[in-house]
Amino acid sequence: MTNEFYTLRNDVKIPKIGFGTWQIEAGKKAYNAVKTAIKNGYRHIDTAQGYQNEASVGKAIRDSDVKREDIFVTSKLESHIKTYDEAKEAFNKTLEELGLDYIDLFIIHAPWPWNEMGKDCSEGNVQVYKALEEAYEAGKARAIGVSNFEPKHLQNIIDNNDIVPHVNQIGYFIGLDQSETIEFCDKNEIFIEAYSPLGIGYLLDNEVIQNVAKNYDKSAAQICIKYLLQKGVTPLPKSVHEHRMIENAQMDFDISETDMKLLDKIEGDPRRWD
Ligand code: A2P
Repeated sequence: MTNEFYTLRNDVKIPKIGFGTWQIEAGKKAYNAVKTAIKNGYRHIDTAQGYQNEASVGKAIRDSDVKREDIFVTSKLESHIKTYDEAKEAFNKTLEELGLDYIDLFIIHAPWPWNEMGKDCSEGNVQVYKALEEAYEAGKARAIGVSNFEPKHLQNIIDNNDIVPHVNQIGYFIGLDQSETIEFCDKNEIFIEAYSPLGIGYLLDNEVIQNVAKNYDKSAAQICIKYLLQKGVTPLPKSVHEHRMIENAQMDFDISETDMKLLDKIEGDPRRWD
């Protein structure tokens, strides 16, 4: 599965499964996790300025035996940056931290600063997206986009910028209804990436998912990931354990329509933030 691709609107190929690195501590932990993921076939690595591990992630990518052009690398602009100048500077800093000449995908991490969720940053988002468009035009980012954007945030960019975002990375997993955003993105050819595909692990206790998993002799995690692939999006599972990295990429089965419907019926976000 790690060598299968979707194609973005601008013809850039994106590996179907990505490896997420949120909450993987900078230094040895992030370095080893990314190195191990690459060793096990992952060719799509997702980091962010806010994860504070870009340098370790970049070093693992550079140290790997895989050619740069065969790895799809994503990073994200810190959520509090909402001016053009700061965005431009931060983008260059990302390349520097990663130690790369270009990035495959660069996205605005959120429509508002994390500590001011819901704030109207329409003008700021237009400004920072301009910096992303310039990076794209200069060939320093092969695709650009956003994360955690709802239709109204996306419409603002579409109305006031030149390039429709190629990607919107959202929290998406069994039970979390993202239909409005997905419908909007489909209409505008904005590709969806799904972070927290396992509901940061909490979905794995769900009995319906566990029962479906038994039908295929697979784990609950594999069902969560395959469900998203069958929805046509890119899941970004993360694990610091090699056997789980391997498991999360073993997708040699199809969930039946009946079971997909059962999974569709699950409701509620199981994530607990305490
Ligand atoms: P760990 O890193 O200790 O393996 P999500 O990708 O939805 O954010 O979920 C990530 C969480 O799920 C992490 O805590 C990770 O723990 C755990 N996890 C990842 N893959 C698996 C798996 N195959 N089985 C069980 N837990 C997993």
